[in-house]
Amino acid sequence: MRSKVIAGNWKMNKVLSEAEQFADSVTGKLPKDDNVEAIVCAPFPFLPSLVEKAKGSKLKIGAQNMHSEDNGAFTGEVSPAMLHELGVTHVVIGHSERREQFAETDDSVNKKVHAAFNHDLTPIVCVGETLEQREANETMSQIETQVQKGLEGLTDEQIGSVIIAYEPIWAIGTGKSASSADANQVCTYIRNIVKNMTSENIAEQLVVQYGGSVKPATIDELLEQPDIDGALVGGASLEAESFLQLVEAGT
Ligand code: G3P
Repeated sequence: MRSKVIAGNWKMNKVLSEAEQFADSVTGKLPKDDNVEAIVCAPFPFLPSLVEKAKGSKLKIGAQNMHSEDNGAFTGEVSPAMLHELGVTHVVIGHSERREQFAETDDSVNKKVHAAFNHDLTPIVCVGETLEQREANETMSQIETQVQKGLEGLTDEQIGSVIIAYEPIWAIGTGKSASSADANQVCTYIRNIVKNMTSENIAEQLVVQYGGSVKPATIDELLEQPDIDGALVGGASLEAESFLQLVEAGT
């Protein structure tokens, strides 16, 4: 039985004092239930303080990106070693905003996924199609390429511990969520791709999230779907109350 994983992706929002207030409001109120995990993926400058505040609670802290190298002449970048030493446990890799605005490719995603495992970080690998690709019936082929290339060269055990977030690009921040049935269909497809790359057992362990305009009002229906194991949430993860409602839905 897979646990549900609710991850907030704050993107470039909040200042440190607001991030700290959020942590103070949620850490004591998260459900004790082991079947649900709660993660906040925050901007880099907030990570040390959030990790400190989350200690002893169920909240885990993730980053939204990282470089694939351990160190070097990469001005402005943050390495996986830096994140690991801080106590960060998860890292979002290949979000569509990074693919579109910062020229990330399946190849750079793959390098980062390997680097995450080399530093004991759980990668949350984002995949998804544009509206044009969906309308041209290219959703599944697009997803297949992103999953296969993103996970290339990993061991079966590593693949089983990746979190894949299916985020249709047209549903991000638009208020237009995919229907739960459509989202589930793609999540099932992702599980099948992983089954073909590894085995049925590994595919059954894999956590597949849906992301794109998820709200407290829509999460129940999504989580009822057999192949949706959680959500990667932008806007609705910014307020403590709404984040707590999303996590509660996973119990
Ligand atoms: O990574 C989460 C995301 O891109 C979805 O954002 O604001 O539509 O929930 P939002």
